[in-house]
Amino acid sequence: MRRLVAETRLHPADLVLPLFVKEGLAEPHPISSMPGVVQHTEATLAEAVRDATRAGLGGVMLFGIPALRDATGTEADAEDGILQRGIRIARDAVREAEAAGTGGTGGTGGTSGRVGPVVMADTCLDEFTDHGHCGVLTTRHDGSREATVVDNDATLERYATMAVAQARAGADVVAPSGMMDGQVGVIRAALDEAGFADVGILAYSAKYASAFYGPFREAVDSALQGDRRTYQMDAGNAREGRREADLDLAEGADMVMVKPAGSYLDVLAAVAGTSPVPVAAYQVSGEYAMIEAAASNGWIDRRGAITESVLGIRRAGADVILTYWATEIAGWLRDETFGGAR
Ligand code: PBG
Repeated sequence: MRRLVAETRLHPADLVLPLFVKEGLAEPHPISSMPGVVQHTEATLAEAVRDATRAGLGGVMLFGIPALRDATGTEADAEDGILQRGIRIARDAVREAEAAGTGGTGGTGGTSGRVGPVVMADTCLDEFTDHGHCGVLTTRHDGSREATVVDNDATLERYATMAVAQARAGADVVAPSGMMDGQVGVIRAALDEAGFADVGILAYSAKYASAFYGPFREAVDSALQGDRRTYQMDAGNAREGRREADLDLAEGADMVMVKPAGSYLDVLAAVAGTSPVPVAAYQVSGEYAMIEAAASNGWIDRRGAITESVLGIRRAGADVILTYWATEIAGWLRDETFGGAR
């Protein structure tokens, strides 16, 4: 009866798996604050993408960790930069797994029976800059004071070339996450001009300056100097989150995202209530770490807590959920013991 009347269900195709690939790595490297998540080598990235394809996931979201960082994030748009290499590897792995007939079910309307995950890439400079900020820096003179701040418009030029490099490497979707004003519009124009009208934009629209990104710093070896409060949002602002989503829609976003997810379900519900495009939510590194830590101490039931956290995000209105547990959850869904069936 509970299964029959369940209001909220999950499907593997709703889930997107974030993946980290690190340049020059010989063996996958565990991320201690995210037990079960690793920095991948190029070889193990391909395996993880094949697994994601077999699990029927809707997407993978790639992050690159370069060997060299500098002030402007040179490797971010290098043709052979680690993220572009990762995209090509993921692209090939999806095609192989689709051809082998091991993809997810085709869903409605597909001509092929097997459809692999959409290949998405994070479009942001923070993994590539030595200062760890999402853009290039400049000095602002406030009366007698000098402050180092991110240069919004100079950063937009970097995002445009980065998005085109990602599209050239084979990304289906680029995902600007740096919270620069105008980033979606500039990327849309650059993609169209370069002949990539079909490449979509998943905009990290309402992205809050959050303590829950803590473990991500370790995941991408970043030593952030200062904080991000000059460009990421204030945790108390919900109206501003809706406004950011509206601005991104007007600039051409194909999907909008709220991030983090668990502490921002009201913002997610508000955006989902009016958005004409699909809405994504990112269950971020700190949300993952909290449940894993409590579960490993025996303080909460791991599977129950994961289930509830992801169902809650879906119930609040997310069409698409980015979660580090995506492949594992897809396995549970196959057993039909998730959510309403329990
Ligand atoms: C920016 C980016 C971040 C995350 C996703 N994209 C880091 C940040 O903005 O500080 C965080 C994801 C997570 O914490 O799981 N490249």
